[in-house]
Amino acid sequence: MPQIDQPLHDGPKHVAVIMDGNGRWAQKRGRPRLFGHHAGARRVREIVRACPDEGVKYLTIFAFSTENWKRTQTEVAGLMALFRRYIQREAMALLDEGVRVRFIGDRIKLDDKLVSLMDNLELLTSNNDKVHLTIALNYGSRDEVTRAAQRLAVEIEQGRLSHKDVDAETLSRFLDTRFLPDPDLVIRTSGEARISNFLLWQSAYAEYEFIDTLWPDFTKDVFAKVLAGYGKRERRFGAVIA
Ligand code: FPP
Repeated sequence: MPQIDQPLHDGPKHVAVIMDGNGRWAQKRGRPRLFGHHAGARRVREIVRACPDEGVKYLTIFAFSTENWKRTQTEVAGLMALFRRYIQREAMALLDEGVRVRFIGDRIKLDDKLVSLMDNLELLTSNNDKVHLTIALNYGSRDEVTRAAQRLAVEIEQGRLSHKDVDAETLSRFLDTRFLPDPDLVIRTSGEARISNFLLWQSAYAEYEFIDTLWPDFTKDVFAKVLAGYGKRERRFGAVIA
């Protein structure tokens, strides 16, 4: 019979995060929204570094959605510049720390310079295996599933696949996330309880944590607490069914 004070199993291996609240964090300080995004980028660094100690092998973060293009041109351009800068500044540290970086989302709308930095970082870190950091950039689940369905249709049209072969496992192999296990836990910061088109297919069995902290205030201690909460919930569930 499971012990109440002993976790039934390890913490989440794959954590996905909707990093929300940068704009509000900046506004509360009377600063432009981009100031919040820069503070948010520093937290990304801290949380990635905390993953090995927390037993998190896969971290997937929502950096820019297919809907985020609707923001002002200044904010979009500022975010794109921030992503370029983050990749340039962090590449060597990520390599040294054993982080394998990959990107999901449609690259077609991203500028060439950013795409080449993304490609280079993926290649540079491709032999790392300590932490798998996946950055969702111009990502939306519906867009991802639509693109997967289009690629699947081409395979059928060209006779490499029969419609009878199409099941959930086959479709998963056409998604941007084909190299990732499904998330165990999805965290959204800033008090909003929405999924916002993030990993809808992949999170079918995930647990969700909606927490009030704004992303720039999401320290590694807050992260550790949220992960510990996941363990507790599992423990209670185990005790009830035991
Ligand atoms: C949501 O907050 C945040 C974003 C759309 C951008 C996320 C980007 C970062 C955390 C920057 C760094 C990322 C990387 C990968 C270096 P919001 O602007 O919607 O906040 P609000 O809801 O308070 O307006």
